[in-house]
Amino acid sequence: MIKGTTKLIKWENLRMVIISNCTQSAITDAAKSLVSGNLVAFPTETVYGLGADASNESAVNKIYKAKGRPADHPLIVHISNINLLDKWAKDVPEYAIKLARSFWPGPMTLILPRTALVKDFVTGGQDNVGIRIPNQTLALALLSEFEKQGGAGVAAPSANRFGAVSPTTAGAVEAELAAYLSGDDQILDGGACDVGVESTIIDCTGSTPIILRPGAITAQMIFAATDLEPATTNNLDIKASGLLESHYSPLAKVILDRTPERGDGFIALSNIKTPEGVIRLASPKNNEEYAKVLYQALRNADSQQIKTVHAHLPVGSDIAVAIRDRLTKSANK
Ligand code: TXA
Ligand code: MG
Repeated sequence: MIKGTTKLIKWENLRMVIISNCTQSAITDAAKSLVSGNLVAFPTETVYGLGADASNESAVNKIYKAKGRPADHPLIVHISNINLLDKWAKDVPEYAIKLARSFWPGPMTLILPRTALVKDFVTGGQDNVGIRIPNQTLALALLSEFEKQGGAGVAAPSANRFGAVSPTTAGAVEAELAAYLSGDDQILDGGACDVGVESTIIDCTGSTPIILRPGAITAQMIFAATDLEPATTNNLDIKASGLLESHYSPLAKVILDRTPERGDGFIALSNIKTPEGVIRLASPKNNEEYAKVLYQALRNADSQQIKTVHAHLPVGSDIAVAIRDRLTKSANK
C-alpha cells in the first residue's frame, strides 16, 4: 500500500522519517507509532507540533528531552472533538463552552481545571490543563485515528528547541529537531501552516477569560462570543514558556522600529520601502500574511547568517497584537 512519500534522514546514527503526501495508511501508521510511545511531529493551522501520547509518561518525557524544555513547563493536550473535552477538563465555565463552540476547531487553547486523567507530567504539576482542537485536516485525521486506536489525547508543544522560533514547515521541524529525534519518530509534512503564529491561550479558570498569549482569536472575537471583556496578563508566575519575556528567538539580533543599516535584514509590510542596502526578508501585504511569513523570515535570516534583523511592528487590534507580542519577545534576547 502507498503510504505517502517517505524521506529518511540520516543524522549520524539516527534515522528519522519525514512523510509527505500523507495517505490514510500513513496517518494510521503515525497514530500507531504515537500509541507505541514514539514522537510524531505534525502540522496544525498555527505552527507544527511535536506530539506524544499525553497519557504515556515516558513518551511525554521524550518531548521535553527533544526540545530541551524545563520539565515544569506545561504542554497543551490536543483532541479531535469537543465531546472529548470532559475527559480532560472539569468545571468548565459557561463562557468557555461558548468559546469552544465558537472557535474550535481553531487557533485557540483553553486553560481549564484538570480531571484525574491529566497527570503532573503533562501540566508540570499545575492543577490546570491546556486543551486545543486544531483546525488542520492532517492534524484532525491523526488525532481521530489516535483516538480510534484507544488514545485519549496528544500532548504537543511547538516543534522547536526551547526558546527558539516555532516551525511553520516540515523542513523547519527537521532543521530544529532532526538531531534530537530517534529512528522511530516521524515528521508528517502538511505544507506551510496557514496562521503562522501559535494559538491564543485563554485562562478559563476564573469568572472571566484572561488572555495569556495573543493569537488569531482576538480579544474582540472573545468578547463577541461571550459578552465578557477578556483581561490580559503578563503574570510570569504562571509557568508558561510562551509567557517568558525572551522567547521565539532566532540567532540574529532582532531590533524593532529603528532604521536598519546596510547588510541588515528587514521585515515590514509591503507598503514600507526597503532602505538602501538592506536585505528584505519579507513584504507581507497585510497583518494575516505578516503572521504567516514571520517565523520563516526569521529562520531565513539565520540561514543567510544575517546578524541583525529590523522589523516594523504592525499596528491594529487583530492578529497584529500576536505579531507584536512575538517580535517583542524575539527582541528581548
Ligand atoms: O498553536 C499552538 O498552541 C501550538 C500548536 C502545536 O498547537 N502549540 C504550542 O505549544 O504553541 P507550546 O508548548 O509551544 O506553547 C504552549 C504554551 C506554553 O507557553 C505553555 O507553558 C502554556 O502554553 N501552557 C500549556 N499548558 C498550560 C497551563 N495548564 N497553564 C498555563 N499555561 C499553559
Ligand atoms: Mg512553543
